[in-house]
Amino acid sequence: MTGSEWWRTAVIYQIYPRSFADANGDGMGDLAGITGHLPDLQELGIDAIWLSPMYTSPQRDAGYDVADYCDVDPLFGTLEDFDVLQRTAHSLGIRVIVDLVPNHSSSDHPWFQAALAAGAGSAERAHYIFRDGQGVTGELPPNNWQSVFGGNAWTRVAEPDGTPGQWYLHLFDSTQPDFDWDNPWVREQFRDVLRFWLDRGVDGFRVDVAHGMIKAAGLPDYTPPVAGGSMGGGTATLEPDISAEPAAMPPYWAQDGVHDIYRDWRIILDEYPGQRILAAEAWVDPLTRVAEWVRPDEMHQAFNFAYLETPWRAPALRRVIDDSLAAFGAVGAPSTWVLSNHDVVRHASRLALSGDNLQGHGIGPNTVGLPDAVVGLRRARAATALMLALPGSSYLYQGEELGLPEVVDLPDHAREDPTWFRTGGERYGRDGCRVPIPWEAAAPSYGFGPSEKSWLPQPAEWAHLARDLQEGVPGSTLELYKLALRLRRAHSLALGGVEWLEGFGDEVVAFRNGDVRVFANTGTSPVELPDGELLLASETLAGRILPGDTTAWLRA
Ligand code: GLC
Repeated sequence: MTGSEWWRTAVIYQIYPRSFADANGDGMGDLAGITGHLPDLQELGIDAIWLSPMYTSPQRDAGYDVADYCDVDPLFGTLEDFDVLQRTAHSLGIRVIVDLVPNHSSSDHPWFQAALAAGAGSAERAHYIFRDGQGVTGELPPNNWQSVFGGNAWTRVAEPDGTPGQWYLHLFDSTQPDFDWDNPWVREQFRDVLRFWLDRGVDGFRVDVAHGMIKAAGLPDYTPPVAGGSMGGGTATLEPDISAEPAAMPPYWAQDGVHDIYRDWRIILDEYPGQRILAAEAWVDPLTRVAEWVRPDEMHQAFNFAYLETPWRAPALRRVIDDSLAAFGAVGAPSTWVLSNHDVVRHASRLALSGDNLQGHGIGPNTVGLPDAVVGLRRARAATALMLALPGSSYLYQGEELGLPEVVDLPDHAREDPTWFRTGGERYGRDGCRVPIPWEAAAPSYGFGPSEKSWLPQPAEWAHLARDLQEGVPGSTLELYKLALRLRRAHSLALGGVEWLEGFGDEVVAFRNGDVRVFANTGTSPVELPDGELLLASETLAGRILPGDTTAWLRA
């Protein structure tokens, strides 16, 4: 059951507001900065933007710790700035998706502050997951769950009279207490939040930790099969065995009850005109399980992290493409594709890492197997050219269109990811993919803003990756993205299908999608391309030879 809804074919560009563009020169990106650059995004050729959180927040997890779901943080501007941004985007034909963070709030949220003040057994405490501790005096946490960011998932509070008291659950930082979604009050609040933004005109929501809101009854102990947690708390590595039997889900991920929440939300979204959407961030596997989030009466899209985690190897890529189209197709949803976001090592670095790298751990100076920048960029361009030829909807992360690598050598004092602090520096975390992006080579902060300031330092090498140096330059990464997006639209690739082509060797992903043939050489041996007009190549080709780490599109 495929239809013509916009989200089935959309290219959605993720904006990380802190790092996109800074209009007021305080070193932190803002909404006015985004509005000013929307024409650049229209020119790039995307269909929608997804804004990472810009809500009121103490920024302990870069805004994923929300203290008011219905207001904009002064760091980023005001609700009026949001309205201007959205109006401008809509006038340019760009849809706007906002991030919704329903698993937890900030500990600064008035609801949590009220829960602390009201004491054990109160209605206010029941909005979150408070429990008495174990041990003679309740000195031990209620169970053994670990935070995704490292350390214990429980924090003990002082009761209003000052005595040590109950514990609250936080699957992430201690400043991010989990809501109790079994409580109807919580559900009612979030229906209001949805309506607030839908009334304002947003085109949809990216739902944070969409696999986490319901916890197994009794909160049973859980010991993960491998040490360390990924964003999913599972076993995500760069070489996942996507055919493996799914591991048993932890009692805090993918509980059946989460689906009732999305069925409820879907009814609300469907009351609004204009095809508003829900997109799930659900770090679960296998893909057939992810597809449960996008059954016809639930969400519209789910991120395809299995694709993101697939190494740059043709056999694995062919398999994950088949699995994705089958799993999402079985429930009538489009497959999505993604290579980078604000939580993972940028793909211009990740695809050339030679060591294992658990998702969310990041890379830094002491990482074993650091990538070669030239190989990484070449693979990233080839991987993007492959992704944008696939049917369905694709997500891009700001800066990948410039070929930005992960920043590996951030000074420790500049780091802000709670992962870094909660693991005592053992995991670098995600700051390296969040560095403010370069717009103009010769300007202060490379045109990120009008001043020298930038909340994370930008590496000197970024001058030559600035957008203005790539604009109009044939073969630049920016122009490659523009060409791919233009051809993708012109040839209706997003509505097509994948018909595998044989005879190009094990290391080549070769398929026909409508009137385009796509060849991605993930190996080292050059391969001869068949006849046909060359539409796009991720590197300059010599004759009909497709070298390693290169993708080409031919007219069929
Ligand atoms: C999601 C976000 C991530 C955040 C976490 C907690 O995984 O993408 O950035 O830290 O949720 O909200």
